[in-house]
Amino acid sequence: MPPQVRTAVIPAAGLGTRLLPFTKAVPKELAPVLDLPAIHYVVKEAMDACIQHIAIVTSSGKGALQEYFKPSDEIDRLLRARGMNTVADEFRQMTERLTFSYPVQARQLGLGHAVLCARDAVNREPFAVILPDDLLVSDEPVLAQMLHAWQSNPGNYVAVEEVPTERISAYGVVDPLPGGQIDSRTYRLRGMVEKPPAGTAPSNLGIVGRYILMPEVFDALAETRPGAIGEIQLTDGIARAMAHTPLFAYRYQADRYDCGTPLGLLHASLSLALRRADTAEEVRRWLRDLE
Ligand code: G1P
Repeated sequence: MPPQVRTAVIPAAGLGTRLLPFTKAVPKELAPVLDLPAIHYVVKEAMDACIQHIAIVTSSGKGALQEYFKPSDEIDRLLRARGMNTVADEFRQMTERLTFSYPVQARQLGLGHAVLCARDAVNREPFAVILPDDLLVSDEPVLAQMLHAWQSNPGNYVAVEEVPTERISAYGVVDPLPGGQIDSRTYRLRGMVEKPPAGTAPSNLGIVGRYILMPEVFDALAETRPGAIGEIQLTDGIARAMAHTPLFAYRYQADRYDCGTPLGLLHASLSLALRRADTAEEVRRWLRDLE
């Protein structure tokens, strides 16, 4: 039985340039998706997968993230007075079941570097990484789906989905080992590449922002030099760790929304509103009116 995965690292130190000018004043991770900040959903996903410690990698000017997760009796009272008991209960659970730490990434050198900045917070145990831009909506949280696979075959895991050819170059792309499929969702890999030039992708399976990693990956990240777009890439660090740690891709089951762009946020908000009994009808009416 492998050790438990207790920590989820959430890289949130980026400048959020795709959401400027909003991000001039507010961290992009606090942009609302319907009625909750994007980062609230991913912290809830981690909590539902029995994670106990959330390490949010931040940078200067992003203090509002710490403010958001600070327990507050006054906000608890206000939420309940407005009938928002579910959210109040979620905050209470977060306070009771999670500890938060805030490692700092002083310079934006890439996603791999951001994860390396959480090394001391993780403390030589297997850990999860969650990219808050990727909102995944499913009955069983994707992180929990991956943890089940990881418990049967420990190693480094990346979540993947099928991506159309014309968009694959924006992703990390996995290279499955021939004959290495373990079950309908899990593939053993022989490599992966970050943002492959058009026409060179090794498969149509693009990496999406959920990872389960062994602590040795930190040594690999410390040795990883800048790669695609001049940044220290997480994909390259994990690929490097293949020398000693088996690598798997997990093809998850969920709907995915990109909360890193204005249109993606709108798409996510609309989709969540259409799923909810108290908002669906009104939103459907608006959409009909707009046709
Ligand atoms: C990051 C990762 C990439 C992954 C993507 C998923 O890229 O580096 O491997 O496919 O997230 O959202 P970014 O979108 O930050 O360029």
